[in-house]
This record gives sequence, structure tokens and C-alpha cells, in this order.
Amino acid sequence: MARSPLNSGRAVSSVRLKRRLSPDAFFRAKPAHSPYIGAIANPITDIRTCTAFGRKSKKLLSPKDIALSVAPMIEWTDRHCRSFHRVMSRRTRLYTEMVTTGAVIHGPRDRLLGFDDAEHPVAVQLGGSDPAELVKAARICADFGYDEINLNVGCPSDRVQNGRFGACLMLEPALVGECVAAMKGAVSLPVTVKCRIGVDEQDTEEALNRLTESVVAAGCDALTVHARKAWLQGLSPKENRDIPPLDYDRVYRLKQKNPDLPTAINGGIRTMAEVKEHLKHVDGVMLGRIAYQEPEILLAVDRELFGEGPPVADPFEAVEAYEPYVAAQLAEGRRLHDMTRHMLGLFTGRPGARAYRRHLATEATKPGAGLETLRDAVAKVSRLSAEAA
Ligand SMILES: Cc1cc2nc3c(=O)[nH]c(=O)nc-3n(C[C@H](O)[C@H](O)[C@H](O)COP(=O)(O)O)c2cc1C
Repeated sequence: MARSPLNSGRAVSSVRLKRRLSPDAFFRAKPAHSPYIGAIANPITDIRTCTAFGRKSKKLLSPKDIALSVAPMIEWTDRHCRSFHRVMSRRTRLYTEMVTTGAVIHGPRDRLLGFDDAEHPVAVQLGGSDPAELVKAARICADFGYDEINLNVGCPSDRVQNGRFGACLMLEPALVGECVAAMKGAVSLPVTVKCRIGVDEQDTEEALNRLTESVVAAGCDALTVHARKAWLQGLSPKENRDIPPLDYDRVYRLKQKNPDLPTAINGGIRTMAEVKEHLKHVDGVMLGRIAYQEPEILLAVDRELFGEGPPVADPFEAVEAYEPYVAAQLAEGRRLHDMTRHMLGLFTGRPGARAYRRHLATEATKPGAGLETLRDAVAKVSRLSAEAA
């Protein structure tokens, strides 16, 4: 039986299971590590209900499912990055990069959507605004075994605006509701939305309330709010992640108004102390740049938020735990750099971090670079850290 390189002791059976079962049956048959098991076992505390276009529907995510997640980030949170993050936290929810419905339907699916079984719980983020296309894409993603379908209502890039999706959908709450309802009707997975508090000159009270009302009525299972506006003209996507001011209180008020909607906050959150502060007001925190640039933060998640020991003790063990995955990918013909580019920030703040980064940046791109290159880079940190101690 096939085994995941990240979980060498655990048989990878869920993908095969998925192929044999209907989506409904597959959902019920999730393996024991799935957060849904708890939700199903404890319907009173974990499953909430809402009215989806007049019909009762269960919330398929509980607050604890979304307590901590790593944000969807194009070019960053690919499968190698997610597999690396997973070795540091069992509980963190992981998101793919945004994939457009067109790419899912017409593109190279295995390359775009394939993932390692050890990545669960993992959500796919879709970019699109045509309900019929979203239905097709959601079904394909469900068939791949994702744990959640998330709709992007927050990306402000020109390309996305031309396709009439992403952040500009903040201006079309009814259409977003239609998209969510269509996907909810097509798959048994949680369907969620990631949005901004508004765009351009919108009043953020009204804009976010209208979007939320629409998606809640459509049966949305959770909402993640990037707590700043997006400016659709004049700012680059990068500037749109920094320049519009953060308004965390706006997200807190949204949660107060919608107590039954699992709600996560995102934007500018950089420490576990900040995470815990936000969790007094909302159900979840989504970390973006900090999780990528200084992934060691993920080592604290299982212990500090779930009272469980982390899978590995420190960044050195994290690299060791990731090595079997890297070896398996190298054996399939991938370059070392495909994996190590996501690891450059791992030792940030430790003596030798710069030498580690430089070694990987120059050596891991060379043809034939293998695990030795990674080990040599880590040895620089071990040596310099020991000298400094
Ligand atoms: C390189 C990069 C790519 C991103 N790509 C996406 C994306 O595909 N979908 C999305 O919803 N947000 C995307 N974002 C935005 C993040 O998900 C997040 O909302 C934003 O970075 C704010 O969170 P942070 O301050 O914790 O980084 C991206 C951010 C970065 C830095």
C-alpha cells in the first residue's frame, strides 16, 4: 500500500477510499485525524445550523477547525510549502494558492491540484464568479479529496478584476451568494469565503454586512476576513496588503453580529500573543506572510492553541522530518530548490541563518543538488549556534 513520505507509518488510504465512495460517503468516512470526526461526534457543540436559501443546512466547520490557518498565497503555498508547514503543526489548516475555475476545468489538473495525503486538513481556494464554472471546479476539487472549497473575494490584481472575480466581488454580494449556494448544492464539503472589509469608497459597515448576509443565506460554512480594504485602482496587490489601514474592530463587530458564523481574521498578525488576543474576539486567525517568512511560528500552534505536543521539537527536527518528502520529490525529478525555496526563513533570528539562506539560494538551484545540500546548509546553523551558545 502506498505510504506518504511525511507519514511513513500511516497508510495512504483516503485517496483510494475517495475514489470508491460517493462524496457524501467519503465525507463521513474521513480518517481519524480529520477535524470533522469531532464535529460529527459532538453535534451539539460543534455543528451549528443556518438557513440556506430557506433550507436548513449544517455548518460543516466548527470554530476549532479554523482556529489557525496559513493563508492562500500565490507562488508561495504550493504543495511543497504546505507539506513543509505540515511537519510543524498537525492542527494548522492549510490553503492552496488561488486556482481559477478556468485552470481547474481546462488546465493540467494533477499539477495544479495534486497534493500529499499528509497535508490534511487542506482547503483549495478558487478564483471565479460564474456559478456554473464554480460548480464544475468545486466537483473536481472535491474529487481530489480537498477538505474545503474557499472562494476568493479579496484579491485585487488587475488580471483578477478583468475576470470579474476576487476583491471586486465585494461590490456584488448577491452574485457571491449565488456562487456559494451553487457550490454548496454541488459538493458535500464546507464552502467558505475569504474577503476584505470593503473596496474603494465602500462603507465598510454596509459592504461587509451585505456580503456576509448574502453568503450566510447561501449556506457559507465560514468566513475569513482580511481586515483592510482593497483599492481596486492605483495600488499593486503588494501595496494592497500593506497600505489600506487594518481595522480589526470591524471584524470583531461582524462576529458579534453573526455569532453562529465561524469567522477568522487575517492581516498583519505576526506573533502567537497576537493570535491569542484575536481569538478572544473571533474563532480563527489566518496567518499569511509571517507563516511563510518565519515558519517556526507554526511550531507553537499545536501546543499553545490545542494543548498538544508539536510533531517536532525545533526547526532542526522539522528539516529532518521533511527530508523523506524532499527525497521522494527528488526521486520524481523535482529540483531541490522547488522545496527549499519555502524553507529559507526557517532559522530566522538564529546564528548562521544568513549562511543557511545563502547556501540554499546558491546551491539548491544547481542541477543534481540533493539532500546533502540541505544538510550542509543546516550544519552552518548548527555550528554557528553551538559556537554562540
Ligand atoms: C505572495 C502572496 C500571494 C498571495 N496570494 C493570495 C491568494 O492566492 N489568495 C488570497 O486570497 N490571498 C492571497 N494573498 C493574501 C494573503 O492570503 C493574506 O490575505 C495577506 O497576505 C494578509 O495577511 P498577512 O498580513 O498575514 O500576510 C497573497 C499574499 C502574498 C504575500
